[in-house]
Amino acid sequence: MKTRRILVTLLATGLAAASASALAYEGDWKRGRVYYRSVCTACHAAQAGGSIAPSEMTKAQWQAYLQADKHAKGKDSLKQYVGKPYRASIRAQNKAADKFADVPDEELFEDLKAFVIKGAKDGDAPASCS
Ligand code: HEC
Repeated sequence: MKTRRILVTLLATGLAAASASALAYEGDWKRGRVYYRSVCTACHAAQAGGSIAPSEMTKAQWQAYLQADKHAKGKDSLKQYVGKPYRASIRAQNKAADKFADVPDEELFEDLKAFVIKGAKDGDAPASCS
């Protein structure tokens, strides 16, 4: 009986710690920059009529854009391009997708967000795309 209570307590503590650390993840803008410039820009240069710079939008516009998750004039989801399945599909031709193949989707999304917010028109370091 006692052992069971201890186990339950340990489990609850472990779960609380795990969710706290998930919430505490802070985007790594450097990793976001590498991903943006290699993966996002590669496709924009080829299919969107040219690259799209983070500095084309303000921080507020990026926040709203990422929140809405509508990409390419609403045709698809932006998150899919950060997801593992997409990385896996291009990793043979794309170094960044290969390097970050196993990064959890939520982390890479936070990284990307940190980079575009920092690189926004009114961000700390307005950034181009390449
Ligand atoms: C497989 C190709 C592809 C990938 C990968 C891609 N994009 Fe795009 N993106 C497009 C196309 C095509 C458009 C232009 C749509 C239009 O103007 O008709 C676009 C447009 C955009 C726009 C302009 C607004 C809009 O949605 O129309 C932003 C911002 C953008 N992409 C951000 C990103 C980011 C950030 C990533 C990386 C996480 C990314 N894209 C990855 C193809 C891609």
